[in-house]
Amino acid sequence: MSAIPQKILAANWKLHKTCSELPAYFTKFRNSHIPSSQVRCIVCPSPTLLQVCAQEASPLMDCFSQNVSWAESGAFTGEISPAQLLELKVKGTLIGHSERRQYFNESDESALKRAENALKAGLQVIYCVGETLAERQAGQTQAVLEKQLRVLSHTLLPGLKDSQNFILAYEPVWAIGTGLVANNSQIEEAHALIAAQLAQSTALPLSILYGGSVKPENFKEISRLKNVSGALVGGASLEADSFLALYRILSAE
Ligand code: PGA
Repeated sequence: MSAIPQKILAANWKLHKTCSELPAYFTKFRNSHIPSSQVRCIVCPSPTLLQVCAQEASPLMDCFSQNVSWAESGAFTGEISPAQLLELKVKGTLIGHSERRQYFNESDESALKRAENALKAGLQVIYCVGETLAERQAGQTQAVLEKQLRVLSHTLLPGLKDSQNFILAYEPVWAIGTGLVANNSQIEEAHALIAAQLAQSTALPLSILYGGSVKPENFKEISRLKNVSGALVGGASLEADSFLALYRILSAE
């Protein structure tokens, strides 16, 4: 097990794309002669794309879901279980993305339950945290991040066996899809705080990704910041060319 967190580039496709768009996207990747690198690539499509995506993306990228249920099965309309994902060769899932928190009432407690259920079943997790603009302006960034991370510290983090199984993503809500990017010191400050808080509960070197309007134009600088192991990318992951450009930047670092 390496003591340095793994470099990771993850695409969050949100509610974009249909199955028919996938072959062209991954063919571009296959034809681009990407040098072998230490960077792990992950793609998170909508549920109906997962099966085709897991096939098309392999072995270039691992396919993750955008969410998973806290239940194993039962009367939970609209949810997806870990077993259903694993059957499709899905390797992991996003949990607690700010759009889930903002529009679908996801709380720290429900996100924790989802993460625990995913890990128990053998799915990996990208767990998202981040403050809103109002919280940052009120000087509450540190308190918000600490609260969001606190639920992980009781049993989830101490119980982790492998650093690949749990990835943290810091995404300031005000920087997601807005074109606003947190500046270097804001990113470093948040990542340092997160790294310190994670280290209180686990000795594993966990990857901490930055997310929020990451683009080829700003990623070189961001990827060099301390405690930044990669990125969770929305808009710039939708076109194969820009996602490839991000991949090349992270591979070169
Ligand atoms: P963005 O989205 O790159 O479009 O800002 C990031 C995310 O929501 O994960």
